[in-house]
Parts: sequence; C-alpha cells; structure tokens
Amino acid sequence: MRIGLFDSGIGGLTVLAEFIKKYPNCEYIYYGDTANLPYGTKSKEELSVLADKIIKFLISKKIDLIVIACGTISSNLYSEIKDKYNVKIIDILTPTINYITQNKLNNIGIMATPMTVKSQFFEKKLVNVTSIACPKLVPLIECGEFTDELKQAVKAYLQKLKGCDYIILGCTHYPLIIPIIQKYSTIPFINMGKCLVDTINVNSKSTLHIELYFSKLTSEIITNVSKIIKENKEIYERKV
Ligand code: DGL
Repeated sequence: MRIGLFDSGIGGLTVLAEFIKKYPNCEYIYYGDTANLPYGTKSKEELSVLADKIIKFLISKKIDLIVIACGTISSNLYSEIKDKYNVKIIDILTPTINYITQNKLNNIGIMATPMTVKSQFFEKKLVNVTSIACPKLVPLIECGEFTDELKQAVKAYLQKLKGCDYIILGCTHYPLIIPIIQKYSTIPFINMGKCLVDTINVNSKSTLHIELYFSKLTSEIITNVSKIIKENKEIYERKV
C-alpha cells in the first residue's frame, strides 16, 4: 500500500513516524511545503490553492490513501477536500475528537496555529475547550534547535492553559517539542498522530519505502528530517 502524507514542513513527519512505527510494511510518499510555511497564518483561499497542488502531486505518485498530516489544512479545508478527488483522504483531527469523546475527557486545552483556532473546529465538536493560538512556534520549530526563544514562547503559551486537564497538541509540529512542553507543564497531552494510527487499519505487505519531497530543501532541513525519520529514505526538492 502506498500512503501519501503532507504538511507545511517537517511537522507532518511526526505523523509519518507514527505510521512507520505501526505499519512498517507500507510505501510512504511525503510532501513538506517548506517554501510556503507557515500555513497557520495563511488565508483559507491560499491554503486551498496550496493543498490542491500537493494533493494532485501525491495522486500522480499513485498513492492509495492521502493523510492530511496538518491541523491547519484539516481544520479549514477537510470538508471541502474529502470528496473532491478520486482517492481516499483522511484528516488528522477527527481521530483525536473521537478519542476525546469516547474516553469522555473534559476540560481540554488546545495549542494550535492561528488558522486552526480561527476555524473553531474543536469548539464545534467538543464542549469545555480552551484554544490558544501559538503563532511563534512553527517557524521556531522548523529551525530545529531548542532555543531560549522557543522555550520562552512554549512556557508563555502553556501558562494560558494552566487549569486544563488535558492538552491537545493541535499542530503536527508540536510533538517535536515534547521535551520542552514537559519541562513547563505536567498536564497530560494528546498527540494527534498517535490517535490517528491507533484508529485506522492498514493491511499492507509492501516493503518499507520512504520518499520525502520538500518544496525547498536545505541542509538544515535534511538534518532535521534525519532526527525524526531514522529509517532509510530518499529526499528530494520538488516544486508542485
Ligand atoms: N503542522 C501544521 C499544522 O498541523 C502546519 C503549521 C504551519 O505551517 O503553520 O497545523
């Protein structure tokens, strides 16, 4: 089985890593739109154009399933995208909503991008949630270093979620900073990539194959990618 995943940059690789762990017998094609990140502050119209190009690219790679490994695209565009193409497309947020509902979790804090917060996606599906936009995080996470600026930003955002019982990492970049999150908060967090792979069933007997495409590829990105995806992989620069 060939699975295509996409995001604005390296964040969706946290979802890919969960897939590889659970389903090593698949072929994976990943697209990170590093030339256009961050997505979290773009308009819905801009996001729609970018997502369309990436989905068409993944379809050209003969994938069987597309995973929107991006909270921003999932929250703003999934309802429009899901039946638009001749391929099954799944989003990253629905499994997390289902996990929370099934386990009757309450008093949920959500860290996410400005556009995800603006979409009110979580508020429409859950009660008693507090969403905070974290615009500083994605550009700092993409640098690949745990800088003081990043730590201070995380600390300040977490401060706003102090009374919550759980925190959803509502952007797929955030699992990359779990050590910082745990330094400043003891509230249990929910990783959307984990929720997703735990709820789907992939039956595949392929040999593991990983192809990664980025719209802008630098040596920094290659270094950061290799910290997240340890398995053998091909990495290419490709504009779509
Ligand atoms: N990782 C993405 C998300 O889950 C996109 C973040 C961004 O580029 O702002 O929302």
